[in-house]
Amino acid sequence: MTTSLAIERQGPIGLITMNRAERHNAFDDALIAELTESLRSMEAEDGIRLIVLSGAGKSFSAGADLNWMKRMAGFSMDENRRDAMALATLMRTLAHLRKPTIARVHGAAYGGGVGLVACCDVAVAAQPAMFSLTEAKLGLVPAVISPYVVAAIGERAARRYFLTGERFEAAEAWRLGLVHELAVNEAELDEKLGLIVDAMLACSPAAQREAKDLIRAVSGRPVTSELIQDTAERIAKIRASPEGREGVAAFLEKRRASWVPPDPEPTVPPEAPPGP
Ligand code: COA
Repeated sequence: MTTSLAIERQGPIGLITMNRAERHNAFDDALIAELTESLRSMEAEDGIRLIVLSGAGKSFSAGADLNWMKRMAGFSMDENRRDAMALATLMRTLAHLRKPTIARVHGAAYGGGVGLVACCDVAVAAQPAMFSLTEAKLGLVPAVISPYVVAAIGERAARRYFLTGERFEAAEAWRLGLVHELAVNEAELDEKLGLIVDAMLACSPAAQREAKDLIRAVSGRPVTSELIQDTAERIAKIRASPEGREGVAAFLEKRRASWVPPDPEPTVPPEAPPGP
């Protein structure tokens, strides 16, 4: 049973909301376990095409729960390793999920909250959102989130923000590439989120899975003959695949591909009352 999350399904969209609003959705061992489990089960659920991760209340997430961190400091090194691995597993599960993921960011995204944003495929943020990698201020390091955060913002920006713990605004997060879209407020945030969801639903689920795998396979790798061979292999395979054939045929036949959801029914305006 989930207590730290609110989970909803809207057709093909899985909505996972971190739900510890009184703690700005800081994550303790229970939230980490529940979030990892929910991501895995939505990944396996046939009707779900993509997942939106958000936070209830004022913030997206204030990162690791510092009360829990304090308690863990009194445990053995082995227990600390096991516990840290649970957070590392959450980040890896989110980053490598086989379905598209979107972070909807408002309020504070601090520490591990920045990690969650970096692990999602796409991030949208409301302008008032604030970001910070506060770990060094607390005598800690952003260790398990670092592979994803450095991949998102680059080594140069990581050197600044890992070492200063400065807060930065959504516009700076956008400039750094941590978030893809900015909105002036939460209403606009949901509009922009909706456009990205629609764009994702118009794409082939199998192609999206392969695209995520492709990015991981080429990212940061030298362009060797093996890599070139691998990329040629991938396109050769997917164009002969059922969704590869269907997508190209649909374009040429000027019709919707089988995976594209139908347009929503137009809302019929109420009939005007008869005139005098
Ligand atoms: N872990 C545990 N509790 C946290 C928390 C965290 N990461 N972040 C916030 N809280 C708690 C506060 O201690 C406070 O508890 P209280 O009501 O018992 O005093 C409650 O959430 C509300 O927080 P508060 O600081 O009063 O709200 P705010 O709106 O003024 O500020 C934040 C919100 C998130 C900016 C601020 O709480 C903050 O800086 N938190 C630390 C975040 C952080 O450094 N995370 C990285 C951890 S590695």
